[in-house]
Amino acid sequence: MLDQQGEWPHGVHPIGTERKTEIVTSLTVMGIETSCDETAVAIVRQIDGAGPELLANEVLSQIEDHAPYGGVVPEIAARSHLVHLDGLVKRALKSADLTFNDLDGVAATAGPGLIGGVIVGLMTAKAIALVHRLPFIGVNHLEGHALTTRLTNETPFPYLLLLVSGGHCQLLHVKDLGDYVRLGSTIDDAVGEAYDKTAKMMGLPYPGGPALEMIARDGDPTRFDLPRPLLNRKDCDFSFSGLKTAVRKHVLALAERDELGDQDRADIAASFQAAVADVLDNRVSRAMAKTKDQLGEKPRLVVAGGVAANQALRARLTETCETNGFTLEVPPVSLCTDNGAMIAWAGLEHLAAGHTSPMDLEPRARWPLDKSTTR
Ligand code: KG4
Ligand code: ZN
Repeated sequence: MLDQQGEWPHGVHPIGTERKTEIVTSLTVMGIETSCDETAVAIVRQIDGAGPELLANEVLSQIEDHAPYGGVVPEIAARSHLVHLDGLVKRALKSADLTFNDLDGVAATAGPGLIGGVIVGLMTAKAIALVHRLPFIGVNHLEGHALTTRLTNETPFPYLLLLVSGGHCQLLHVKDLGDYVRLGSTIDDAVGEAYDKTAKMMGLPYPGGPALEMIARDGDPTRFDLPRPLLNRKDCDFSFSGLKTAVRKHVLALAERDELGDQDRADIAASFQAAVADVLDNRVSRAMAKTKDQLGEKPRLVVAGGVAANQALRARLTETCETNGFTLEVPPVSLCTDNGAMIAWAGLEHLAAGHTSPMDLEPRARWPLDKSTTR
């Protein structure tokens, strides 16, 4: 992170004494993610003039711990992060064939998320930074999702971002690193949440999104006439709770008559997914119209977050892009759901720009990316 004169660039405040004297032309950053039900540690490297490399990517899913409860239990999540995080840090270093001395910085999710888990990851990163005299970077989890395709596809700024996860559903104009303008967001449930709740009503296993997508493949998307909320609104907001309630009515009606069979579940899942696809297509098209002339010659739509793993929605958004003259960029499926690589990468981008965080940075349960509202 030293510049050509061997000085720390303006704005970078290394913690402890300077540890390197040679001119460094590469950055290697560890990223820690513990904001929900994945304990994850990754190491990313970027050498000047070359594309970024993912040197290690360790993800330990807690799905089995939470499955009996049908959703994430915050206390169980935090305890599990505490038990597993140190081991994952060691495993990441081992699989990258590195030691702490090879790192130029350590990043961790500082929010938004389940606060107990965020505290575990943040404190661990601060301890590593202090002991090994490394810069520390607290990363906004949403920014991690927002920047992932810059790691995998080298997507240039600016772009339109559809962020769809278990806790968030937003459209953002990503202008530059740290410069995000929200165009719209959900006024009730997030898309992933709607998938999870709909799946749960039909008795599908947790997490519901992938399970619902799977059974929807054998279903008839036209059998149930479900609502497409906010379709004609001029803004770019979303709403999914009405859709969820409509599904519940059909599920209860079938269950009361003892008629809820596998084909019915598949048809409900397919009809639900078709409604979600229509809503996303409509809202994204609206955002495209608002931003296209500010996105350069080759406007891009980036889709990120756990729901971006959904193949049917990707296919539909590919069509949306073709219709509106956009190019679609989506991370590989393994980097759509929560992971450490996105945190390491966001940390690296900030470190390269000369940003680090103070050691008293506080964990945050809520942390809007664009800072304009708290919704
Ligand atoms: O980004 P993520 O791992 O965690 C949050 O930051 O929320 O997203 C998890 C969400 C869950 O709601 C999960 O059901 C959903 O992403 N998800 C999917 C699929 N894979 C994960 N939803 C629909 N289809 C999928 N294939
Ligand atoms: Zn996430």
